[in-house]
Amino acid sequence: MSTKQIETAYIKAGSADLGEFPVYGAVIGKPAIATSALMGKGYFTYDPGYFSTVMCTSSITMVQGDEGVLLYRGYSIEDLASYYTYPAVCQLLMTEKLPGDAAAVDFSEDLQARTAIPQELTNLIAALPQDAHPMAMLMSAVASLEGFYPELCDISNPETRLEAAKTLLAVLPMIASLCHARRHGEQVAPTMRPATTHAEDFLRGIREGDEAPSATLVHAMDQILTLHADHEQNASTAVLRATGSTGANIFACAAAAIGALWGPAHGGANEACLSMLRTIGSTEKVRHFVKRAKDHDDPFRLMGFGHRVYKSYDPRAKIMRGICHDVLKEMDKQNDPMLKVALQLEKIALDDPYFVERKLYPNVDFYSGITLNAMGIHDSFFTVIFAVARSVGWASHWLEMHATEQTRICRPRQLYIGENKRPAPKPSA
Ligand code: CMC
Repeated sequence: MSTKQIETAYIKAGSADLGEFPVYGAVIGKPAIATSALMGKGYFTYDPGYFSTVMCTSSITMVQGDEGVLLYRGYSIEDLASYYTYPAVCQLLMTEKLPGDAAAVDFSEDLQARTAIPQELTNLIAALPQDAHPMAMLMSAVASLEGFYPELCDISNPETRLEAAKTLLAVLPMIASLCHARRHGEQVAPTMRPATTHAEDFLRGIREGDEAPSATLVHAMDQILTLHADHEQNASTAVLRATGSTGANIFACAAAAIGALWGPAHGGANEACLSMLRTIGSTEKVRHFVKRAKDHDDPFRLMGFGHRVYKSYDPRAKIMRGICHDVLKEMDKQNDPMLKVALQLEKIALDDPYFVERKLYPNVDFYSGITLNAMGIHDSFFTVIFAVARSVGWASHWLEMHATEQTRICRPRQLYIGENKRPAPKPSA
């Protein structure tokens, strides 16, 4: 699908008539004024944080923030999480086709066949400090992949690009499991597991203990992966596109995106949210912390609350809430004090004019920390799970940008407010 001009915008700056600018329509969402020609008229646009800046066209994912709707290739997240497994969703995102059961198995097997990890990569992970955050380990290992798969770094060939994208998806869960072994001081060597499902293999690799996870936990992990698979132009995907625009290979782009995801305002919010719930500790203290979150002189914010695009309940959070209850029931942890704190916090915040006026609702990270904790996963691996899940989104955007030639280098402008040109004093002898 291509962009269509639907109207013209007429722009004036003070008394200067800057003329007409094309306005492009979207299938869903607001139209966009194409402002590149403003530079020739002597102006830039100024939009810190990219509140209203469109960086590309895309056909992969759509977030309708006011309605709380999330679509992957036009299908709702509710339908996909209910009827399809994560590998099927990966295939949909990457290849545009929702597979039948047999094709999804083929895709899954295609990924499985690419999971062999080179010995030198295990050596690299084994050489990292044991106390390093798993996100640092993951980022280092992914950044090094060019060295192990140089033949997949020819970005001019569409088939090689697809091979590279599939390899990224296949090796990331393996790397995560090696990082887990390193953190636990275990031998860092790829363990050959029986080829179960993608979700089960992954869960076994990052869970504490050797016990086989139950069907409920495997299903929960599969759904969690689907919920995090893509989210249109979020911060890490924007970083991935910016990195890709320089011609960098997919592994370098993914490493950059992992760095962007790590921060607590983005993917790191799940770890930060659980830490916040622990700090709050009991339902009696919830009001005190809600008061702190409203105070602009206090840096405390409600983690797992608010979103740049959603101005109603995040649909992923609704599904995650259900998964959370299922997992706590399965693990016999319905009386988990953190769940009680979370439910109370949600109730108080949703009734509070501060949160209501600003349209701040729980996001996907609000219930994911409690859920993952109950599943036996250490806090420091929560964002790793997000990264593994999101790798398909990153890969799909990388494939799309190259397929649609949206690879003009990302090079924004600035409003310079520093010193004017001045002579440098000669250093005294
Ligand atoms: N707690 C308290 N106040 C908040 C919060 C919060 N979590 N989020 C936003 N606000 C207030 C903010 O102070 C501002 O108030 P005012 O208008 O009086 O200045 C207003 O709401 C708008 O917030 P903003 O920071 O301008 O919004 P943003 O779009 O720049 O930031 C956000 C979005 C997600 C970074 C922010 O809501 C936040 O920091 N939330 C907590 C971290 C979090 O849960 N992140 C995960 C996002 S979902 C996972 C993902 O896809 O990455």
